[in-house]
Amino acid sequence: MNYRVGDILITRDQISARVNEIAEDIRKNLAENKNGQELLVAGILKGAVVFIADLVRAIGRDVDVRMDFMALSSYGSDTKSSGIVRIVKDLDTYIEGKNVLIVEDIIDTGLTMSYLLSILQRRGPANLKVCSLLNKEGRRKVPVVVDYCGFEIPDEFVVGYGLDYSGRWRHLPDIHVAVPV
Ligand code: IMP
Repeated sequence: MNYRVGDILITRDQISARVNEIAEDIRKNLAENKNGQELLVAGILKGAVVFIADLVRAIGRDVDVRMDFMALSSYGSDTKSSGIVRIVKDLDTYIEGKNVLIVEDIIDTGLTMSYLLSILQRRGPANLKVCSLLNKEGRRKVPVVVDYCGFEIPDEFVVGYGLDYSGRWRHLPDIHVAVPV
């Protein structure tokens, strides 16, 4: 199947306002956290890169933020995940005893995140939270608790602001519906 970029679903202004709200929630929760104000942002390459860049800057200087990245590959087609996930690049950081926030672009079936959570939980972080820019709750195959969610979206394939179709359209500033052609 091929796609073209369709209408805007979420504008850059809506994204920016929501990123600031999420950053505020993260700051508040960390301030109440017994385990301190240090936060390791574990970004999932490549889709979450644009979101992370905005989110970490919105979190601001009161939090001691560190950034690390993981790359996962899911065996599946361009638009469907199979649930079989392989770590292509692991975190460089040792996460035992740390406050870890996984930052993802979108949670669809939940298979990728549920696998990732099970791996990272075994490494003994002080706490492990999930932040996803987008969430397609209606498509879940396995339950996932999303601690910070940008937007709930319907069952549409979307691109832009880091999200791609076959490597394309990550650079678009707004989030668009991808239309089959
Ligand atoms: P899950 O394992 O089904 O939750 O899939 C998660 C991954 O599928 C995301 O990290 C994305 O890479 C990809 N994905 C799912 N839906 C979309 C979409 O609408 N646009 C772009 N990528 C998507």
